[in-house]
Amino acid sequence: MSLALGVNIDHIATLRQARRAGFPDPLAFASLALACGADYIVVHLRRDRRHIQEHDLARLCKKFRKQIHLECSYTPQMQEAALKYKPYSVCIVPELPGEVTTTGGLKFTPAVQKRVGEMTQALHKKGIKVSLFVSPEAADIRAAAKLGADIVELCTRDYSEAATKKQAQKLLQDLALSTLLAKELGLEVHAGHGLDYNNVLAVADIGGMACMNIGFSIIARSLEVGLPSAVAEMKELL
Ligand code: PXP
Repeated sequence: MSLALGVNIDHIATLRQARRAGFPDPLAFASLALACGADYIVVHLRRDRRHIQEHDLARLCKKFRKQIHLECSYTPQMQEAALKYKPYSVCIVPELPGEVTTTGGLKFTPAVQKRVGEMTQALHKKGIKVSLFVSPEAADIRAAAKLGADIVELCTRDYSEAATKKQAQKLLQDLALSTLLAKELGLEVHAGHGLDYNNVLAVADIGGMACMNIGFSIIARSLEVGLPSAVAEMKELL
């Protein structure tokens, strides 16, 4: 069975924000991506609003609610935005000031567990599925299950940045074992971060994975071949 593809369109908004212009419009590109094989549209509403804005989220959820996967941190402000616009699912991620992109999975300190647990319950009350972005480590997957998550998104950043083939193999093994454990605990398994046309197949081949969330490489490729082909090429690989 083919895997679902979530296309992250943050960088369409990054380009627009570079000029504070009215285009390119993330909604138009979401339509294109969905028409060309994307199963979900992923957007990260960041505290610094460097790309996706709240009005983008509002329009996306109004038009494609069942296919919108929102990434956000666990602050009360982000919880409020998620409850207001009601995307299909929310992936709770850690967010550090000044980071270029998300740097890794959630660190489950007692305070983080409390906050993420509260946010998970609030989202569930509105019928929103909850995904937690985690490192491929058994303790973190168990923590996610305990907090009531529906989905874990395994962070593939270390795998995508592996310096040697041997390291990549070891990290793939961690991802495979984590997938097995997550499935045993009743969680749906997604993967994302740093995946591209060359490294995605090995992750997609791990049995039990349900969805790959990919942004940067698809948007970069779209500059060469256009978004429809960039999305279709990735979907074909999966
Ligand atoms: N998944 C999560 C949780 C992310 O934070 C990101 C980056 O926004 C992605 C997937 C997509 O990563 P990339 O843009 O490297 O494909």
